[in-house]
Amino acid sequence: MERLIPLGLIISLFLFFPIATSLPASGRPRTYIINMDKSAMPAAFSSHHDWYTSTLSSLAVLSQAHLDQLHELSSHLATYPETFGHLYTTYTPTFLGLRKHYGLWPASGFGDDMIIGVLDTGIWPESESFNDEGFPPVPERWRGACETGTEFNLSYCNRKMTGARSFSKGMQQEKQNISKTNDYDSPRDFISHGSHTSSTAAGSSVVGAEYFGYAKGKAIGMAPKARIAMYKVLFFDESYDAAATDVLVGMDLAIEDGVDVMSLSLGFIETPFDENPIAIGAFAALKKGIFVSCSAGNNGPHAYTILNGAPWITTVGAGTIDREFAAHVTLGDGELTVIGKSVYPENLFVSNVPIYFLHGNRTKELCEIYSLDPEEVAGKYILSEAVGAIFSSDEAQFFRPTDFFKPFVLVNPKDGDLVKDYIINSKNATVSIRFLATLLGTKPAPQVADFSSRGPDRISPWILKPDILAPGVDILADWTPNRGFVPIGDHDYLLTDYAIVSGTSMSCPHAAGIATLLKSTHRDWSSAAIRSAMMTTADVIDNANGRIIDMITGVAGTPLDFGTGHINPNKAIDPGLVYDIEIQEYINYLCGLNYTSKQIRTTTGMRHFKCDSATLDLNYPSFIILLNNTKTISITFRRELTNVAEGSSVYRAVVRTPDSFRHESCSAT
Ligand SMILES: *[C@@H]1O[C@H](CO)[C@@H](O)[C@H](O)[C@H]1NC(C)=O
Ligand SMILES: *[C@@H]1O[C@H](CO)[C@@H](O)[C@H](O)[C@H]1NC(C)=O
Ligand SMILES: *[C@@H]1O[C@H](CO)[C@@H](O)[C@H](O)[C@H]1NC(C)=O
Ligand SMILES: *[C@@H]1O[C@H](CO)[C@@H](O)[C@H](O)[C@H]1NC(C)=O
Ligand SMILES: *[C@@H]1O[C@H](CO)[C@@H](O)[C@H](O)[C@H]1NC(C)=O
Ligand SMILES: *[C@@H]1O[C@H](CO)[C@@H](O)[C@H](O)[C@H]1NC(C)=O
Repeated sequence: MERLIPLGLIISLFLFFPIATSLPASGRPRTYIINMDKSAMPAAFSSHHDWYTSTLSSLAVLSQAHLDQLHELSSHLATYPETFGHLYTTYTPTFLGLRKHYGLWPASGFGDDMIIGVLDTGIWPESESFNDEGFPPVPERWRGACETGTEFNLSYCNRKMTGARSFSKGMQQEKQNISKTNDYDSPRDFISHGSHTSSTAAGSSVVGAEYFGYAKGKAIGMAPKARIAMYKVLFFDESYDAAATDVLVGMDLAIEDGVDVMSLSLGFIETPFDENPIAIGAFAALKKGIFVSCSAGNNGPHAYTILNGAPWITTVGAGTIDREFAAHVTLGDGELTVIGKSVYPENLFVSNVPIYFLHGNRTKELCEIYSLDPEEVAGKYILSEAVGAIFSSDEAQFFRPTDFFKPFVLVNPKDGDLVKDYIINSKNATVSIRFLATLLGTKPAPQVADFSSRGPDRISPWILKPDILAPGVDILADWTPNRGFVPIGDHDYLLTDYAIVSGTSMSCPHAAGIATLLKSTHRDWSSAAIRSAMMTTADVIDNANGRIIDMITGVAGTPLDFGTGHINPNKAIDPGLVYDIEIQEYINYLCGLNYTSKQIRTTTGMRHFKCDSATLDLNYPSFIILLNNTKTISITFRRELTNVAEGSSVYRAVVRTPDSFRHESCSAT
């Protein structure tokens, strides 16, 4: 499938693009998020969509006069100016312990009869990951649609990919219109991100997937029998942007269509919940019992970088897996072989070529040849001229597949010294390098990815975020086949059907897929119960029997890095007890935040609500206290547990506090 195509753009999807809020000058119509009270929908309309469309002569685009009219309507809750959100950028079932004949996969029927709504950049319908071979008919309750547009029509949907819609009115109004060169004006995926996330959540099994020989094997999603519905809300515009209105309308439609779970690998800058379209859309989903999984963001490793921190959202950080890509470096006549990191996309075998040690100004020169930052590749460089390069670096873990556009290998400093000694002490040093090695079972794994956003949440620090860690580093999944991936030379890119990318964008659909399996197994569980089951059974110990480490510091991470730990699907089937949360309790939390009535109405979409109490203590599976130079503080947490196990069990409450803390009492009733 590999071919060279010219392409003028370098794309790194794992990057979190900076927020651009370009609000237009007053005068021309602006885009607004309109929050309507759905219970006020007149009976004459068959659906909320019809109602909105007829209420707003042009969906979501309003002049001031329209806006004034709208304010008069009794069903109107609040109106906000448009903002823009941004995109973050398979062997993981095995890493997560999912097995064909044991545990969550067979227990859930592989997610049979569940529908996952993915809000993303679209989908590549021809991909093998979305083939519907052996699928029973689409569940009758499904009300979604397959929208026609550029290179997309009804016949592209099937029993696997049951729906595909595209939402661009907000984006077209404020930023740019869609042209042939910047995106497809349809649910078709232009940039691959949505195909990658969809196939991670629920891709059908595809034998023989690979990335130029690396990570070869069967590609399969977390919930391989679940159906996928794509809601395209992200369009290409230099960076990738989503208009708040498009996201909100997309989420509303997904709810109406009847999805069971939503996956959003995108985020808006943290604002009060009533100004955040994902928080608002997720609350609407909550009311319908729909589980919402979101990326924690790629702005780590500093504190307070979490996005999507609303307590009714499951906020997912990214961890590494126990797989690495490598090259074998053999010195001289096989005297010594060291293994270094490489993801060079060619089955290259370099045999007995001369090798030189470079230092001083040659290093700088070499860095220029390879477009590398000398600071980044700290230390010394060893070159086999014209063939490739070996770098000694302790930063190999931070290099991504797209960094290996030339045949080079990164060896650790210890091996680097061995290579250097060999070169210095040999009259005619030679080296052989074999690329294309995939190592499994590497330790320690998982680790918290450097980029994964960290808690606490800036605007709601009373709830510990992120909730959980899921695989998000070097994940192989579906890629659009006409889109270049690895840059080769100055203007060419290699094409691939499957690509290895990193980001909390990748961890979010893992959690969404696992939530789908849990929902399919336990149909009566609420979204809070599903999240609780995932959180209380998560692992804090890695495969080297240590506490999960933070890739940046190399020392044990904390709940602000990984929440309650790394997701463990098979254990989540049977958590014994869950911390459940009623909708009224979330409202009480908003009351505890001192939100105005208007803010609460906007966030919840409920015109009539009451504050039973004002509390910042939700029945959440984790606890957090913020101490800001406070010497002593006394705080009470209340938790209520629900038995979801079969039969009765006896539990004993135990409290373990950090050293400088003392707990007064722990009473169980
Ligand atoms: C959809 O498009 C394909 C390819 O252009 C075409 O063959 C097919 O007839 C179209 N189907 C419908 C339902 O329009
Ligand atoms: C896109 O096209 C519409 C209709 O032609 C126009 O009103 C709008 O201003 C355009 N948007 C941009 C950003 O140019
Ligand atoms: C490297 O150093 C040598 C000797 O100091 C000098 O002649 C040469 O021009 C330098 N090369 C570069 C690329 O700076
Ligand atoms: C060094 O090794 C290479 C490759 O084995 C060989 O072709 C070359 O003749 C050798 N040079 C010397 C000076 O021994
Ligand atoms: C809400 O208001 C009360 C009373 O003024 C205050 O004590 C409390 O700290 C406020 N809570 C938050 C989260 O700001
Ligand atoms: C901590 O207290 C200082 C001084 O009272 C204040 O400026 C700062 O904003 C507080 N930080 C937090 C996170 O509350």
